[in-house]
Amino acid sequence: MSQDPLVIFTPSGKRGRFPVGTPVLTAARQLGVDLDSVCGGRGICSKCQVAPSYGDFAKHGVTVQHDALSDWNAVEERYDQKRGLKEGRRLGCQATIQGDVVIDVPPESQVHRQVVRKAASTRPIVMDPATRLYFVEVQEPDMHEPTGDLERLKRALKAQWDIPSLSTDFSTLTQLQSILRKGGWKITVALHKANNSSDHRLVAAWPGLHEGGIFGLAIDLGSTTIAAHLCDLVTGEVRASSGIMNPQIRFGEDLMSRVSYAMMNPGGAAEMTAAVRDALNTLASEIAAEAGIDPSLILEAVFVCNPVMHHLLLGIDPVELGQAPFALATSDAVDLAAPELGLSAIAPAARVHILPCIAGHVGADAAAVALAEETDTSDDLVLIVDVGTNAELLLGDKTRVLACSSPTGPAFEGAQISAGQRAAPGAIERVEIDPATKEPRFKVIGCDLWSDDPGFAEASAATGVTGICGSGIIEAVAEMRMAGLLDPSGLIGSPAQTGTPRCMPEGRTHAYLIHDATAEGGPRIAVTQGDIRAIQLAKSALYAGARLLMDEMGVETVDRVVLAGAFGAHISTKHAMVLGMIPDVALDKVTGAGNAAGHGARIALCNAAKRAEIQDTVRRITKVETAIEPRFQEHFVAANAIPHATDPFPHLAAAVPLPDVSFNTGGGGEDTGRRRRRRA
Ligand code: FES
Repeated sequence: MSQDPLVIFTPSGKRGRFPVGTPVLTAARQLGVDLDSVCGGRGICSKCQVAPSYGDFAKHGVTVQHDALSDWNAVEERYDQKRGLKEGRRLGCQATIQGDVVIDVPPESQVHRQVVRKAASTRPIVMDPATRLYFVEVQEPDMHEPTGDLERLKRALKAQWDIPSLSTDFSTLTQLQSILRKGGWKITVALHKANNSSDHRLVAAWPGLHEGGIFGLAIDLGSTTIAAHLCDLVTGEVRASSGIMNPQIRFGEDLMSRVSYAMMNPGGAAEMTAAVRDALNTLASEIAAEAGIDPSLILEAVFVCNPVMHHLLLGIDPVELGQAPFALATSDAVDLAAPELGLSAIAPAARVHILPCIAGHVGADAAAVALAEETDTSDDLVLIVDVGTNAELLLGDKTRVLACSSPTGPAFEGAQISAGQRAAPGAIERVEIDPATKEPRFKVIGCDLWSDDPGFAEASAATGVTGICGSGIIEAVAEMRMAGLLDPSGLIGSPAQTGTPRCMPEGRTHAYLIHDATAEGGPRIAVTQGDIRAIQLAKSALYAGARLLMDEMGVETVDRVVLAGAFGAHISTKHAMVLGMIPDVALDKVTGAGNAAGHGARIALCNAAKRAEIQDTVRRITKVETAIEPRFQEHFVAANAIPHATDPFPHLAAAVPLPDVSFNTGGGGEDTGRRRRRRA
């Protein structure tokens, strides 16, 4: 008795025998091969494209003849003429199996395709979206069978797509009858499947086959900025990325001042909620316009944010987050409809998912970082630092993950710095100081040349030199320490002590002059003693948070450090280490992860299973509360020195010799500061 033909799918390697005449799509479904279909095999969506291979396949033990699949049929011919099929491609729902065959499923035909990585540091995303499209043929109404259109749609979805239950949103229901009739009872529906449930929710419908795509927003709602990616929910492709300032800044720069605003002003929380929701609508409209898509095709939004932003977005008064024991209204992920958040710029039935918070001080943004960085599967002990107005820290490996947040304040973002500004064209972002001449050179955002390169003045004329941003101030302070202009306690030396007139007296202290354009009516950019103090406070808070996690873990060192956040992507690891922002490790063990929170939001948007995974991971993360931990203060004080008063920094010492200077004269004499031997 001859056997049924053998069908082998690549790249999955799944194989099975099927009777002659079985459609390729049917064989794929039975084997669990990831082959897409929106039209359910009607030959109109072209999502099921496959590429058969012919010849000898010793590896698979088969020889594929040229008649292994049925002949090109009329449906394929029509599609090819209308839209064009790539050479060698067949429609999986039309081609049937006639003999042994090897069939490749190209990436664009896979539902669970892997999104191409832009940078080596970003983790790949496997598509498994919560919202998907289904083409369905609904039975026409009949005088003898008085059922509603929705009920017949439900029946069709059950019969054609095996969808057991359907709930619907009122706004979609109001459109349904006209869409069904316009489509001649053939429509495409977008269904959102809730986590851990077989229930599907009808979130949009279109007459006929909808080919305009569906989209989602991954939003990192920070205290200072709101950043969003607009993603294609089928391909995972980022169609546009955009950001705006969080308008809540006018109620307070940092989180605690916003909580106090809510406490002190009746209706203050509601005002802040309205402000951020307004901004989100503006951002959604702008990003859709930038991508050239209709905002009503945005059917999902995923948010990551810190607990205060989380509460204010949801319209919950954050007052409890301002006082011990810092209880969250809910730490679980939240799923709701866009109108419940006042998101009117996207589809009215769009669904919103907010990632879970880890604790009252450690938010969904840290959860997103944990998701993006997969801390809980790491073999080595990794410290992840997400620096923003509040630093969020995660320390862990596959055995245990700890988390805390630390009140660094906005100094690392250029705020509270005398010449500080946000990272924008014209801001000094890189600084180098010659250790011999003590002369600085710098680079500004928007110009590729260093300030001492020929042509810098012309090249930077458009932006000017306007101030210094977070990465610039960190480099400036670290370079000052490396050049012997700043002692370990954080004192700037006098001209006599340092040998440079750039260390100018300023009141009872000194300031190091980087750029002076006052003669041309421009700014004077100097690092003042006050700036150094602001950076010391911020970096001490950051380091103390890391130390607290290390105490809890019972370790003195970590294996590697990941700097997350937009800021992490821009700061130089060497300079961060010189400042003692992070514990000592080999410099090549410090990496930047870009916007890990934003990337985590994108993962959760594109992959519904990951939402359940992060909820699980978050439950297993141990929270360490910095605000009530007495050792935090101890660590904070010790971390004030640059790089540190007591903790050794052997890797740093080996890589960067720091001059052992002291400018504390005890009485303010200018030239009594002493130089000591250089530490090797
Ligand atoms: Fe839609 Fe084949 S499944 S064209």
